[in-house]
Amino acid sequence: MVNKNIFYSNGKVTYNERCKILHQKGMVLWFTGLSGSGKSTIAIELEKQLIELKKISYRLDGDNIRTGLNSDLGFSIEDRDENIRRITEVCTLFKDAGIITLVSFISPFRKMREYAKERIGKDSFYEIYVKADLETCKKRDTKGLYKKAENNEIENFTGISSNYEEPENPDIIIDTTKLNVKEAVKKIIESINFDF
Ligand code: ADX
Repeated sequence: MVNKNIFYSNGKVTYNERCKILHQKGMVLWFTGLSGSGKSTIAIELEKQLIELKKISYRLDGDNIRTGLNSDLGFSIEDRDENIRRITEVCTLFKDAGIITLVSFISPFRKMREYAKERIGKDSFYEIYVKADLETCKKRDTKGLYKKAENNEIENFTGISSNYEEPENPDIIIDTTKLNVKEAVKKIIESINFDF
């Protein structure tokens, strides 16, 4: 709902001025995939390598954000949508600040990924599908959550009792059953022009 008593203020510094100082474009690399597919691991390594290239990036990670900003949200469809809606707003701010934002949320629903792309802006948004089949993720079970979900100790668990809608036309696909972390990061860095 639009509040008529709110007045948006534009500052004196433009987006292009910020990018010029930083020598980079503000953008969002949106990692999506099952729990255990490797989203966070790849984002952590990519953040490190971008810093070595003198690019400022910042990670927004599902588990981390759910301990703070989104600690009031669970895993119902409504809460997951709200989780992504809030993150999308944070992304629009980071993008405007000129930051390369690495977003690693399961983000299981196409509708919300499309929403994020529209809101952030198609030209600054890269959907990266971190692909690993359910059997592989279950085998990895790094957090022990698949086991719990199969024992009905967690409800609405993605891949077990809640749906994951695969991206139909992602910008980049990283198959973590075939690529290791360093190879995955190399593929991303070679696919995107970060310079301004
Ligand atoms: S999303 O679906 O709303 O995008 P998000 O990425 O924020 O999910 O959080 C996923 C992380 O929360 C998982 O990596 C896992 O550690 C934890 N988690 C806890 N409960 C669930 C659940 N029911 N489904 C999926 N992940 C869960």
